[in-house]
Amino acid sequence: MKNIILDVDTGIDDALALAYAVHSPELNILGVTTTFGNTSVSEATRNTLQLLQLLGAENIPVFHGVEETFTGRKPAEKTTWIHGENGLGNAQLPPARKQVENMKAHDFLISTVHSYPNDITIITTANQGNLARAIQKDPEIVHLVEDVILMGGAVTVQGNTTPYAEANIYHDPEAAKFTFQSGIPMTLVGLDVTLKTLLKRSTLDDWRKKDTLLSHFLANMCEFYMDAYAERNSNLNGCALHDPLAVGVAIDSSFVKMKTMSVHVITEGKEKGQTVGKDNEDGNMKVCMDVDVQRFVDHFLSRVCLDS
Ligand code: RIB
Ligand code: CA
Repeated sequence: MKNIILDVDTGIDDALALAYAVHSPELNILGVTTTFGNTSVSEATRNTLQLLQLLGAENIPVFHGVEETFTGRKPAEKTTWIHGENGLGNAQLPPARKQVENMKAHDFLISTVHSYPNDITIITTANQGNLARAIQKDPEIVHLVEDVILMGGAVTVQGNTTPYAEANIYHDPEAAKFTFQSGIPMTLVGLDVTLKTLLKRSTLDDWRKKDTLLSHFLANMCEFYMDAYAERNSNLNGCALHDPLAVGVAIDSSFVKMKTMSVHVITEGKEKGQTVGKDNEDGNMKVCMDVDVQRFVDHFLSRVCLDS
């Protein structure tokens, strides 16, 4: 089993990633840390606690991240048009019985890395703020983490927030610049691959036929996301499995083909949030360049909607 921490801004595809991870016996989820992006930090925390309850995984502790960017700015507006007012496509879940933990997200990251030296993978599916703060407070941890698998960036393709920038990097480019330069091992799962892995509308009917609380919740939530894209004439024709692919890479890295590159982040001007990559065998991260779409999507679908 691989020990992991998930760092999320739950968020529709974060919710899918959480369900996939909880249902994957290869992964031992030690905790979930939350941040802003798709939603505010408080909403991401609330959504995560409610979802874990629905998944029968309330035992997994949840830790609240900081409510501002690495350089102290207020977060950008949440993306209600794509993730709904509540972050879950306005699909409803019962209130969570369990509370968020008292410890801050970055302190949990530091203490857990020390408890599992060289035996922990951090999967980030949101901005890099929690990880950046953890490394800033305790730089030693960069030598103790097996890998950081991050959904973020767009090295060979256009961005999705601006023509240059992918959302997770755009939300806190200084934090990403800091973690990318920190020396921590990283695997970048960017739009280069995630836009190829789509959930089709027909899957929602399959889920509704299963007729469980989880299957109806997932179908309602993803329908909102698909409608949002369709309304804006997106040619995607489905919903991109951005964050689930990062979990997939943690389970089985053979889903993707990677290349070692030097990647840096632009933090100013119209290219703010752009991830610029250059081939370099001694570079700072592995970048996913291609994905076995069918094998990954089948694997994801076989797990995400299991009964608890
Ligand atoms: O660009 C896609 C990423 O931005 C995903 O992590 C999504 O959840 C949003 O945070
Ligand atoms: Ca996310």
